Amino acid sequence: MRTMERTFLMVKPDGVQRGLIGRIVSRLEDKGFKLVAGKFVQVTEKQAKKHYAEHEGKDFFPNLVSFITSGPVFAMVWEGDNIIELSRIVIGKTNVTEAQPGTIRGDFACHTPRNLIHGSDSPASAEREIGNFFDSQEIVDYDKSMSRWS
Ligand code: PPS
Repeated sequence: MRTMERTFLMVKPDGVQRGLIGRIVSRLEDKGFKLVAGKFVQVTEKQAKKHYAEHEGKDFFPNLVSFITSGPVFAMVWEGDNIIELSRIVIGKTNVTEAQPGTIRGDFACHTPRNLIHGSDSPASAEREIGNFFDSQEIVDYDKSMSRWS
């Protein structure tokens, strides 16, 4: 069944520092997803706490906030059919020891939580996370099909 969705994906500070933005974006483009917004962000503590609000109170929460604010991230909005579920498959499991080869984390990450990329886990999270990083005018609409050029 086709369900057009948007999701929030973010190359984390480790992915930016390791020069993996291009390869990560390529994986998502290769899958057929459509990039509709992207920018570098130095995440503030307030923005980080809002982004990870569902984890507040967990023992790793302070680590989570300090890691995501430790350097610039590359924040993105992507569009596609069932993209929330599918992009998390392309990304791979959170725990890098469980991330399968062929996934972004399985191929490029060897340390949790330095697992390179964040992806929204539900439509409600995607909407909240997109709103925490982007104004609506920063999200573009364009025709991805090449047929208009042929
Ligand atoms: S939970 O409790 O199962 O919901 O958590 P999980 O989905 O495994 O992880 C949620 C995010 O927390 C990151 N994480 C950590 N950060 C810092 N320190 C430690 N120890 C740690 N453990 C997990 C994990 O990478 C997830 O980040 P995102 O950005 O959502 O992928």
